[in-house]
Amino acid sequence: MTNEVYKEKHRPQFHFSPEQKWMNDPNGMVYFNEEYHLFYQHHPFGTTWGPMHWGHAVSKDLIHWEHLPIALFPDEYGDIFSGSAVVDWNNTSGFFEEAPGLVAIYTSAGTYPDSDRPCQRQSIAYSKDAGRTWIKYEGNPVLSDINITDYRDPKVFWHSETNKWVMILATGQTVMLYTSPNLLEWEFASEFGNRAGSHAGVWECPDLFKLPVDGEDNNEKWVMLVSIGDNPEFKEGSRTQYFIGQFDGTTFVNDNTDETILWLDYGRDNYAGVSWSDIPSEDGRRMYIGWMSNWRYANLLPTDGWRSAMTLPRELTLTASDEGARLVQKPVVGIEAIRKGASISENFTIDSNDVSYEMVSDRMEVNLEWEAQNADSFGLVVQSTADEKIIIQYDVAKGLLSVDRTNAGDNSFSESFAAVQEAPLKLKNNKLELQLFIDTSSLEVFANDGEAAFTSLVFPSKPYNQLNLFSKEGTTKLNYLKLTELDSIWSK
Ligand code: FRU
Repeated sequence: MTNEVYKEKHRPQFHFSPEQKWMNDPNGMVYFNEEYHLFYQHHPFGTTWGPMHWGHAVSKDLIHWEHLPIALFPDEYGDIFSGSAVVDWNNTSGFFEEAPGLVAIYTSAGTYPDSDRPCQRQSIAYSKDAGRTWIKYEGNPVLSDINITDYRDPKVFWHSETNKWVMILATGQTVMLYTSPNLLEWEFASEFGNRAGSHAGVWECPDLFKLPVDGEDNNEKWVMLVSIGDNPEFKEGSRTQYFIGQFDGTTFVNDNTDETILWLDYGRDNYAGVSWSDIPSEDGRRMYIGWMSNWRYANLLPTDGWRSAMTLPRELTLTASDEGARLVQKPVVGIEAIRKGASISENFTIDSNDVSYEMVSDRMEVNLEWEAQNADSFGLVVQSTADEKIIIQYDVAKGLLSVDRTNAGDNSFSESFAAVQEAPLKLKNNKLELQLFIDTSSLEVFANDGEAAFTSLVFPSKPYNQLNLFSKEGTTKLNYLKLTELDSIWSK
């Protein structure tokens, strides 16, 4: 390991991370002029959270990234907290006489005069050169409320049915919806969430978008994402929930009971994620990215010179289940561009003798499918040294998939880090299919075509280089195992 940028210990090789220093939430994701923009919460002078700027990168395929200079700097209204960006196609704002451009809507995070009380207000900035330079609006801030302290993370979208911009904003233990004809003047529309879902932490970074259920255009639902902040009373730390319902441009109506809690990810390390704006309707994908960390220990992760990466970009879809529509997530198709050689094994039975494979790299995609026979449980171990391993196991009787990183590597930085992460999951036609992405210091697991996802950080002392398949108290059939080495996106 060296200090050369992107070659440091634990540095992910096919996930986005900042060239240096601290990063948290993804911000301002928007597609414009054939580029995907990714802004992010960034402290350019430290490797822990601090005065927030918007860092910036662009991509053509959501896999390879080009770093651009910092887009937004703190100003007299405060630091630049999370927010979104949109294309103002019809010049509703009046900023774009010549050609459509970008508008960023973010939280100005300061304090009230002569007080420590946070003062969070919404501001906007616009760009006429595809996000390269930004002009802050002279009328900032555009939205404030002196009574609400946690008042942040505006996500804005165009609601064509009512011909208005809609903003969803995190407001303590709820979200509020506002509408605007021009992005400059905002009117309160409704509030959601008082008793619904999880209130284990402060509500942050909401998103709201429409998706067809199983691709059927005559059956569309609205999906609301709400991240909930860390609370020492819950072992999971910060995490993201979602709601499914209806939205008429003013009010969101939950399809489920208040008690229903739906988690976006069953791993500990996917937070504050939201979706890309303005992906053309011919394309139609709803792409999402999350911050691959957790406020419980984000500031303590054992990395040097840089801190945090994003999840792989994922496509979100909805599928019907017995309990109602549920989110499904799949890694971005652009991943194809970094697939190198693959090896495949097929159709064999696993018994009490583990079956081992060497992994040629610690940048791997692993695809497997098992068929349950009479074993109590089955799964695989991703191993580095004799003591360092991640155990992925399916308990047949309980219908539970778990990802155990208790002994995956360095845990010393936080008592909360060692964890067994679990998701209820049914076999499909008696089969379990998994897609794994192992990248140096992270593991993403997508189960049964993305019905459940687990995102976990891991800090092995040496690269994971071995994979063991096991079956306990009986046999399990393995339909296939495919090991694919992935390229580094930072190698040039
Ligand atoms: C979520 C969050 C946001 C806030 C930002 C500050 O992780 O707390 O609510 O805007 O981070 O960096």
